[in-house]
Amino acid sequence: MRHALVLVALMLLAACERAPEVTFADAAITLPDDPTELPDLPGRDAVIANCTACHSPSTMLQQPAIPRARWESIIGKMTEVYKAPIDQSAVPEIVDYLLAAQAARPPERSAPDVAPTS
Ligand code: HEC
Repeated sequence: MRHALVLVALMLLAACERAPEVTFADAAITLPDDPTELPDLPGRDAVIANCTACHSPSTMLQQPAIPRARWESIIGKMTEVYKAPIDQSAVPEIVDYLLAAQAARPPERSAPDVAPTS
């Protein structure tokens, strides 16, 4: 009798440890190409040297049009929070570039097409 109880207890324990029944389906995504190149304006080299190591041009250029002081504060955040090794003497040139690039872009920019792959 005692053996039977131990056996039942062991069977219950084994049942508890059974892996949950989860089915994983294959899925695929296609990342969009980054369509935004850096326009050829003065200061472009400074942006490439100081900014593009960490993110794509579109991260910078697809922001809403923002004033100079806001750009300076974003670049300050890159330096202080994200420890970006930004040449501080290049910051005015970088801000000039970003302002000019935003002013030069088309007024309406639609999101890049992301085709579902089903
Ligand atoms: C050391 C890496 C690094 C460098 C270099 C860098 N950034 Fe960033 N940047 C980040 C990170 C991390 C984020 C946050 C990304 C996120 O939130 O997904 C970010 C976000 C941003 C954003 C999005 C808005 C925001 O406030 O988060 C802008 C705009 C931006 N960076 C501009 C710049 C510019 C301009 C430069 C060059 C002067 C630069 N970054 C250099 C790491 C970097």
